[in-house]
Amino acid sequence: MFEHFENPRELLEYRLGAAVSMERDSLSMLGDLEEAAQSEDVKQMYRHHADETRQQSQNLDRIFEELQISAADQPSPTTKGIAREGSSLIRKSEPALLDMVTLSAALETEHAEIAAYQSMICTADALGLSNVVQLLTENLEQEEHTSKELYDKLRTLSAA
Ligand SMILES: [Fe+2]
Ligand SMILES: [Fe+2]
Repeated sequence: MFEHFENPRELLEYRLGAAVSMERDSLSMLGDLEEAAQSEDVKQMYRHHADETRQQSQNLDRIFEELQISAADQPSPTTKGIAREGSSLIRKSEPALLDMVTLSAALETEHAEIAAYQSMICTADALGLSNVVQLLTENLEQEEHTSKELYDKLRTLSAA
């Protein structure tokens, strides 16, 4: 892989590699959140998004095929950090707080994912990679939809 980025395409390839790690971290965190959450409807949100996350990883695989490059994992310290903070708060919180704690952690991950996809879409679009843009946009739309659901649920719970 590159040690120094010289053009947007190299940067995009690097970010796609980081997105592979990001989705893997996200899937693993969703499992932990499902386990920690107390209400069935919150657990169900994590299960549903875990299914979408698997599709998102497949979309990333298709993007690597489209670009005719091999998928190279790059680090994703942001999602790792959010997962670590979430686990720590889960350990420290009373069961009655766990729906809220897990929803916050999930929401933070969604925001990181949204920003990552938006950046990659801008670069891919500028490079004229329309199939890549389409696959990235599918992922972005799922993240945005999930983010809204999580936020709505968090607001409802907090107001209760
Ligand atoms: Fe995702
Ligand atoms: Fe997500």
